[in-house]
Amino acid sequence: MARQLDEQMAGRYPVGQRLRVLDVGMGQGTQALRLARLGHQVTGLEQDATMVAAAREALAGEPEGIRERMRIIEGDGRDTGVHFLPGSFDVVLCHGVLMYVQEPDALLAGLARMLAPGGLLSLLVRNADALALRPGLSGDWPGAVAAFDSVTYRNRLGLDVRADRLVTLTDALAGIGAPLQAWYGVRVFTDTATDGAEIPQDLQTLLTAEERAGRTDPYRSVAALLHLCGVRG
Ligand SMILES: C[S@@+](CC[C@H](N)C(=O)[O-])C[C@H]1O[C@@H](n2cnc3c(N)ncnc32)[C@H](O)[C@@H]1O
Repeated sequence: MARQLDEQMAGRYPVGQRLRVLDVGMGQGTQALRLARLGHQVTGLEQDATMVAAAREALAGEPEGIRERMRIIEGDGRDTGVHFLPGSFDVVLCHGVLMYVQEPDALLAGLARMLAPGGLLSLLVRNADALALRPGLSGDWPGAVAAFDSVTYRNRLGLDVRADRLVTLTDALAGIGAPLQAWYGVRVFTDTATDGAEIPQDLQTLLTAEERAGRTDPYRSVAALLHLCGVRG
């Protein structure tokens, strides 16, 4: 995922350019910190106070140069217009968040407004076209049958949350002026791995297999997650 994002950023902007990045729903800030370490100017927006505190703690342990490049704001991703001027970012990330937003259209439109012309919108969503795969591969046949007609699923925290279809998001991105530029599958082979499963010794080969599958039809279509990249016209 990080590699796909870096590739999209490198394809749009000169190497070494300090980009203005907004990470909406940054969680504890793993991706935001990574981008700040790479030299970008990063703003993390997160609604959960516990996550904000974790991100602040992680940032506090960074060298001053990185701390200066990152700011953390506690708030709702649907309120970007309250915090920032339109067009103030080159890259907007919204990873693993749409699952928790009942009506995502307004959120997405707000994120597109935050982008400068030519800016990149990076979304990571649960793939509603492949919801039967996880229960099916786990031998949960009733779950698999039910999943074919559903766009919700129970996540690992036991919460019932939303998934998104590629075609629906493609239309949505076109509608908000940030048409789809590229898309990838994420977690094609590893979605059924249990939490805390032992990390295989040959991790690099596993990652290579995932990376290839995420870029290759038809595998990417049945990935657990979709990584969509739209570009502001
Ligand atoms: C699954 S985590 C993903 C964290 C991070 N983006 C990542 O990819 O690792 C989802 C995060 O989105 C946050 N979130 C959900 N809805 C949000 C909203 N409307 N505004 C801001 N943050 C939100 C949650 O609090 C949580 O920290």
